[in-house]
Amino acid sequence: MLAAARPAMAGVLLAGGALAGPRRDGRGGLRKVPGLGWVTADPTVGRRVLTDHRHFTIVGEGGVGHLWAQILGDWVLDLFDGPGHHDLRTRSRELFTEASAAALVDGAWSAALDDARSTLAAGGTVDVGRLARVLVGRMMISLLGIPTPGGASSPGGADAVPSDDDALAAFATGERLASIALGSAGSTYLSAEQVAAAREIVAELTRGVPDGWRHAPTDRLLGRCRELGLGLEETTGLASLLMVAGTETSASAMARTTALLVDTGEQHRLLRLLADERARPVVRAAGEPDVVENAVREGLRVTSPASVIGRGVSADVEVAGRTLRAGERVMILTWAANAGVGPFRADRPYVRETRQLWFGAGRHLCLGAALARAEIAALLHALWDDGAPLRVVSRRAKRRVLVPGYDELVVARA
Ligand code: HEM
Repeated sequence: MLAAARPAMAGVLLAGGALAGPRRDGRGGLRKVPGLGWVTADPTVGRRVLTDHRHFTIVGEGGVGHLWAQILGDWVLDLFDGPGHHDLRTRSRELFTEASAAALVDGAWSAALDDARSTLAAGGTVDVGRLARVLVGRMMISLLGIPTPGGASSPGGADAVPSDDDALAAFATGERLASIALGSAGSTYLSAEQVAAAREIVAELTRGVPDGWRHAPTDRLLGRCRELGLGLEETTGLASLLMVAGTETSASAMARTTALLVDTGEQHRLLRLLADERARPVVRAAGEPDVVENAVREGLRVTSPASVIGRGVSADVEVAGRTLRAGERVMILTWAANAGVGPFRADRPYVRETRQLWFGAGRHLCLGAALARAEIAALLHALWDDGAPLRVVSRRAKRRVLVPGYDELVVARA
């Protein structure tokens, strides 16, 4: 799957995992690779880099903020890493809480998930690859008030559910924007054509933002941004960011976790645990995951859709016995670091070394983590709550994309 998405990157992830993974001598794997810079697949070293904001930056060459500044303008630099970032994160902390994420998923998705459930129960097939794109596209339309050709969504709120075609179109636009970052493994400098193409897409995606920011009710994301005191520029920046950060990643994790559960046979364990829990309900401590949430965490660990996280070195620093110089770059091979822990097990307990490295760490830790978890959990419930195992009828991996995933993953009851 990694090879279909980005053949060269798959090589880096696989070789890097072997060469730059955790070491017995405790010095941690950190290696310099010509053309890439420093590379690590050690979760402890990765977290050390991500949480050291005095020596590493997301806006320097090698970080994703560097890409965005070229597309959106230099004001992004402050929004991404300066005092503006701190301010933005403080204000937006409550945008995606567990409760608001659950409400979002429930509102935007329940009809489509119910359809999938009844199709499977009736012996039909469901293409989880497509379903994930429709669901995520729908989420983005309702979050960002993206105007749709059918006029199904208005930023104002309480409106009809966008059509599948509108949702797929929104998803594809987000995907096009993300694909601009495809060639950035060696350098995050964009060509003039790439910048122009990206600006056009951002303008298209955020067309509905000014109106939503002014008029949307406060139970909508754009209305909440206004209420939290975010200006129009910040809200537009945040909206573009959500679109890129939260579309392909979520859809990838949803379909790949489904495939993993079937392929590894772990769906039988999940079904057993679900049945046990129904027979003997347990009282859980606050924050302790239930059986599906546990499988979601495992799915995120093994798939790690953001397979690489980049940073620029902003000041000379010693890490894992190496000296990194200002101006160099570091690639954290998140997928290799997380997947290295072991194979997918629906009931694997929390792993301390990786924690939730699939969502990053430190001040840029994924803002949409609660939403992503709620999205994957909602899909797994729809597919397995009835207690019947599934089989994969056919599948096709996506080719030449930033985030590995399924174009098609057709499932039916086994
Ligand atoms: C399975 C799904 C997802 C994965 C694996 C994922 C992963 C990540 C990672 C690794 C980062 C840190 C990047 C860095 O440090 O350079 C990040 C940041 C971010 N993510 Fe997610 N993400 C997912 C879903 C979402 C969703 C659904 C949203 C929102 C709708 C979202 C919004 C963001 C935002 C806004 C940031 C930037 C935070 C900042 O720089 O302060 N993500 N994500």
